[in-house]
Amino acid sequence: MKQKKLMTQIPALNGEVIIPGDKSISHRSIMFGAIAEGRTVVSNFLMGEDCLSTISCFKKLGVEIEQTKHEVIINGKGLNGLKEPSEILNVGNSGTTIRLILGILSGRPFHSVLIGDESIGKRPMTRVTNPLRQLGATIHGRRNAEFTPLSVTGGNLTGTTYKLPVASAQVKSALLFAGLQAEGKTTILEPEKTRDHTERMIRTFGGKVTEENDAVIIEGGQSLRGTNIHVPGDISSAAFFMVAGAIVPNSEIKLKNVGLNHTRTGIIDVMKQMGADMEIIPAFTKEDEEPIGDIIIRTSSLKGTTISGALIPRLIDEIPIIALLATQAEGRTVIKDAEELKVKETNRIDTVVNELSQLGADIEATPDGMIVTGKKELKGGSAVSSHGDHRIGMMLAIAAAICDEEVLLENEEAISVSYPNFFTHLENLID
Ligand code: S3P
Repeated sequence: MKQKKLMTQIPALNGEVIIPGDKSISHRSIMFGAIAEGRTVVSNFLMGEDCLSTISCFKKLGVEIEQTKHEVIINGKGLNGLKEPSEILNVGNSGTTIRLILGILSGRPFHSVLIGDESIGKRPMTRVTNPLRQLGATIHGRRNAEFTPLSVTGGNLTGTTYKLPVASAQVKSALLFAGLQAEGKTTILEPEKTRDHTERMIRTFGGKVTEENDAVIIEGGQSLRGTNIHVPGDISSAAFFMVAGAIVPNSEIKLKNVGLNHTRTGIIDVMKQMGADMEIIPAFTKEDEEPIGDIIIRTSSLKGTTISGALIPRLIDEIPIIALLATQAEGRTVIKDAEELKVKETNRIDTVVNELSQLGADIEATPDGMIVTGKKELKGGSAVSSHGDHRIGMMLAIAAAICDEEVLLENEEAISVSYPNFFTHLENLID
């Protein structure tokens, strides 16, 4: 197995990083562009593997999509413009692609087959396939549509009320896509508020969706109009540099163009609570537009904290890097109510705990999270693995920066799923 020697004992990180486009918003821009009528131009689109999988699926559904260096242009012909694919739709490693596209395909009167990579083959799908069946779609798959390969024959949906058993923006979004095509009203009840990029984008494309307390409501039969989308920088990518700046000595990093949507900024709240020396500089944005701004982070002295409840969906993807941050904080950090970590690209309770332990962290797994005791010097002197999970790979690269001994990373390629230029951006911050 090929191993990458990670940079260790980094003395300081200084400078600016222009954070690449948000993965969640990039996926949605292609999907809405594809089902809207007319041209959609997307700037700052994330050219990561996951979002390229979304483009490839929609091309197979007959949508004309042009990629230039800086933009993606989608020539949408409305929902009726989608054609029955003659090939299998392959979502690669992307959970967002498969779950959201299932919502779209559920309303289309044709047959499609979906597959993904080995990790996708282990991720639970009945959280989406069951409610979509309730709306009227016919879906088959391994273990009664829990796992890929899946096949969908859609059309003739009827709106319903569905209470999500787990807080999941992917499931909510799939139901919104299906609800747009259903007869009558679809009401989705969330146990905790999750990222609202789909709701915002429906409005940007001229559609209507209402939010009342814990309910999101959509009327079927709406048609959407193509528009221009500027994708903000991904706070989930910025998170790696937020933590790097806080734990590497003598550092000051400015992160530019970061999405600051409240449903995603849990990591900022947690870092402030832990004592991080950070400044947030919001830019002016119009109502309903995705909020955006710059973040300055400096080397910080940190203390442990508890992370649980409604905060979890606001930082679910940042937990691996927050665990690393906690190793450098005085006292205990307890992460709970985060059982969902077990069904991400890897079981992130296991991968985080095992890989950080290898480097010398004091960290233990719990049934719904982990407990980290700091402050513990990380030694390194071992080979670690991303296990094919982009966020585990990047977390380990930042962990290595504060290790004394050599650290080798197996399967670094996984990082290109969400941050193809990650290592270049890291190297540019070293004086
Ligand atoms: C995402 C939602 C989250 C997140 C994933 C992206 C999205 O998943 O972990 O990386 O774009 O809607 P869940 O909805 O399963 O929590």
